[in-house]
Amino acid sequence: MNSRIDDVKLIDIPKIVDPKGRGNLSVIEKEIIPFSIKRVYYLYDVPSDSYRGGHAHKKLIQFMIPLSGSFEVSLDDGKKRKKIMLNKPNKGLLIPQGIWREMDNFSSGAICLVLASEEFDESDYFREYDRFKQFKLT
Ligand code: TYD
Repeated sequence: MNSRIDDVKLIDIPKIVDPKGRGNLSVIEKEIIPFSIKRVYYLYDVPSDSYRGGHAHKKLIQFMIPLSGSFEVSLDDGKKRKKIMLNKPNKGLLIPQGIWREMDNFSSGAICLVLASEEFDESDYFREYDRFKQFKLT
């Protein structure tokens, strides 16, 4: 829970470019991310004026990939904030536990793939910013 904004990392996902010009293939193997995947989910058909997220996790670590299109991720560790645009399917964002995040500015057709270190557990969420901030600062 004591993660800081600098612990959020953009990670290159290896890209295999087809020598005959048939497109690219990217692969995520266990060396790329520092957790075992327990769950995969994805956001899609998000209206361009909507936002997702608006919470932090106590234990869960995520690796977020813009499989298609683009969106912005706003990150907050209780003290510092940072905004990152995700728009390359071979660059993912590692978000450790204890980081508040919001995603917005979804482009048309954007798909946000999330690899998660834990199964779904509502009690792992901070959904109120003030409670999150209080927890981080104490
Ligand atoms: P939430 O994590 O709040 O989504 P987002 O951060 O994208 O806005 O989840 C939205 C709803 O979906 C919430 O009611 C919980 C439910 N949900 C599941 O049932 N299982 C899951 O694996 C996830 C990620 C969400």
